[in-house]
Amino acid sequence: ATASFQAPLGQIPPQIGCARDYEVLARRFMAPPSYEYVAGGSGTDLTVAANLSAFTRWALYPRLLRDVGAGHTAVTINGERFAHPIFLAPVAFQKLAHAGGEIDTARAAHATDTCLVASTLSSCPLEDVARVAGPHRWFQLYFQARREDTLDLLERAAQEGYGAIVVTLDATIQAASLRALRAGFRMPADCAAANLRGHPPAPTVELKAGDSRIFQGVMASGQAPTWRDLAWLLGETTLPVWVKGVLHPHDACALAAAGVAGLVVSNHGGRGLDGAIASLDALPAIRAALEPGFPLLLDGGIRSGADVFKALALGADAVMIGRLQMYALSVAGALGVAHMLTLLREELEVCMALTGCATVADVRPDALARIVSIA
Ligand code: FNR
Repeated sequence: ATASFQAPLGQIPPQIGCARDYEVLARRFMAPPSYEYVAGGSGTDLTVAANLSAFTRWALYPRLLRDVGAGHTAVTINGERFAHPIFLAPVAFQKLAHAGGEIDTARAAHATDTCLVASTLSSCPLEDVARVAGPHRWFQLYFQARREDTLDLLERAAQEGYGAIVVTLDATIQAASLRALRAGFRMPADCAAANLRGHPPAPTVELKAGDSRIFQGVMASGQAPTWRDLAWLLGETTLPVWVKGVLHPHDACALAAAGVAGLVVSNHGGRGLDGAIASLDALPAIRAALEPGFPLLLDGGIRSGADVFKALALGADAVMIGRLQMYALSVAGALGVAHMLTLLREELEVCMALTGCATVADVRPDALARIVSIA
């Protein structure tokens, strides 16, 4: 029993008044070990906390008398026009949250004109997801141990009309989540990586808490991708290739020079290196280091439309939502995810209207004030 206590079909619990409420309510809708697995990060959750608190250090400047009557949230990135800049991040194993899993999420994305980034580690096959997803669907790729398996994923994604590849490079080692371990989390048998049936086990090294051989094991595995693998990937597909997991401006510049289509500033929602810089804190230096207009997404810690606004103001072209989609899925399936996305978009629209920004292009750093608190 993975998914447990969904709200009756078609019913949004009355407690949900804003997107973030799904986070609060999900505790009651998910099995406790699954909730801990989703909510937690690696190690002691330093980066999970940093991602959230980074947003609290910025405040919005309301502006007066501006005409936003013809305003809208549409953005165009690499020639693709999106109704709004709120994408769904790749999140693995969605059947943990709801029996409908990624199929429900894809339906919600379609219904709300949202760009969906489907995970390699989806618990529903990418072919089934493509059938219900809208036109804006991208595929998140993890390098597989064997190149032929990576190619298999690439070819299937292209075949099924995924419009871009987002290769995630920050999770070559699966660091232990102490919260998940302590809650006794184990992946249920009915929740498996449906895209990888027939592939040998994933190249990630799973670390157990207290394993003294961690360092040796990691260094010896030799399976983490390198710049050579990225160059190979770029030569193997005609789809635009984004890189997810960038935090250092030097990496950002080198990746742009290597020919990637765009970058996702991300620390994997605090599930990679514990103690890593918050993604919002990393964003301004990366924006400044790149050519103006180089496509940038950000994820990590976004829980409200105001958070979306802050990321846009600091230089992201769009954002991706991770955990909130699992929370909304657990509470009310496809309807919950669609409702959560609608709430986020409305919250963003309110911020844009009251800051006098008619379009996303108007959302600039001068809309924000840096708050320095002395505790
Ligand atoms: C993730 N994330 C992730 N990223 C990725 O590239 N491939 C994946 O399969 C997954 N799987 C996954 C599972 C779960 C349960 C979580 C919480 C996260 C990371 C995800 O794409 C995104 O970077 C973060 O979730 C963003 O942070 P927030 O929005 O969760 O704070």
